[in-house]
Amino acid sequence: METLAILVAAGRGERMGAGRPKAFLAVAGQTLLVRSARALRAAPSVGAIVAVVPADALEEARGLLDASVPGCVVVAGGGRRQDSVKAGLDAMPEGFEGVVLVHDAARPFVPADVVEAVAAAAREHGAAIPAVPLTDTVKEVQGARVMGTLDRGRLAAAQTPQAFRRDVLSRAYGRAFADSITVTDESMAVERLGLPVVCVEGSARSRKLTTPDDLEWAERLVQDGNA
Ligand code: C5P
Repeated sequence: METLAILVAAGRGERMGAGRPKAFLAVAGQTLLVRSARALRAAPSVGAIVAVVPADALEEARGLLDASVPGCVVVAGGGRRQDSVKAGLDAMPEGFEGVVLVHDAARPFVPADVVEAVAAAAREHGAAIPAVPLTDTVKEVQGARVMGTLDRGRLAAAQTPQAFRRDVLSRAYGRAFADSITVTDESMAVERLGLPVVCVEGSARSRKLTTPDDLEWAERLVQDGNA
């Protein structure tokens, strides 16, 4: 079964405070956009990549990707993450019925074995995500008040790429849009339909780069030769 990837890179990256979209920031001289596209391409089963970028950065993204990951399709994203994923889905070839991966450009160091594992799990089960156990105890809060403690043994942090058979993702997204629901990841849209989503083991290297501290961590990872 063929596997295509949607690389979402259209966020404004406001928590990074860099004044420009996060995917265009560089770690050791290479943008997160290019690094994450290369990480996907390193996985043998990944065929075409659709990169979704801010509308005003289409040409810049095409230039960056053509120079180092040729063959990517580049399209404009939307206001919410799910609008950007939808733009990527709309750019998939007509009649494609394989596996669709959705990956955050903000996770440029995802190992190829995680990509392969999640794609294989989606081929078998319809929907799969990489996840890692939580190390912190997680509290439910209202303002400054602690309302309760969640059972850490039952919690996991979701990473990307999340992987779906095309029909599963299209159906789940169709319903989320029809019901005017905002989802924070694709899995959430599939869970709403009551369909199974299975976990594969994620990776600490696939940390989402959100703040300036995360960028420093990423620079060190590359300098230490662990990227
Ligand atoms: O904002 P957050 O860190 O959750 O974004 C995760 C990924 O989704 C990032 O790679 C970001 O570029 C992408 N995104 C997008 N379109 C949006 C919002 C986020 O492509 N409107």
